[in-house]
Amino acid sequence: MRISDAMVSAINDQIKAELDSAYIYLAMSAYFKAEGLDGMASWMKKQYSEEVEHAEKFISYLYERGARVIIPDVAKPKESYADALDVFRTAYAHEQYVTSRIYKLVDLAIEEKDYATQSMLQWFVDEQMEEEDNTGSIVSKLEFLGTDKHGVYTVDRELALR
Ligand code: FEO
Repeated sequence: MRISDAMVSAINDQIKAELDSAYIYLAMSAYFKAEGLDGMASWMKKQYSEEVEHAEKFISYLYERGARVIIPDVAKPKESYADALDVFRTAYAHEQYVTSRIYKLVDLAIEEKDYATQSMLQWFVDEQMEEEDNTGSIVSKLEFLGTDKHGVYTVDRELALR
């Protein structure tokens, strides 16, 4: 069955969203590096790579379906933040936004009875649950620590292990 134009367009938009996400995390990594929080910088760099992989997954899927991939402009990400908590709160909110985008794609796939796309999207539904859990649990830790600098450095060392 041919993939619909609407679905191709929605997936191309999602490719942009994933690449925008990659850039947001790369900028967060650069922010942490400048703040001397190397563990958090490394965690965000890995997050950046994961987002590129997400974009590539969608690209491969469109190729598989014989559809045209549009490589988008990437939005310039924000460069400065108040502190580590501000960064992770932003990342958590961003992942919730991405989840809502994935759910809309699922809604469209269901509406179109596009079972192949529904099946491909299931991986992203599961992945988003993990992404929200990862960022959300770091937010909780940093909220608990508040302005305790030693605590923030401990979290930094922990995140270096990712
Ligand atoms: Fe590709 Fe973090 O969602």
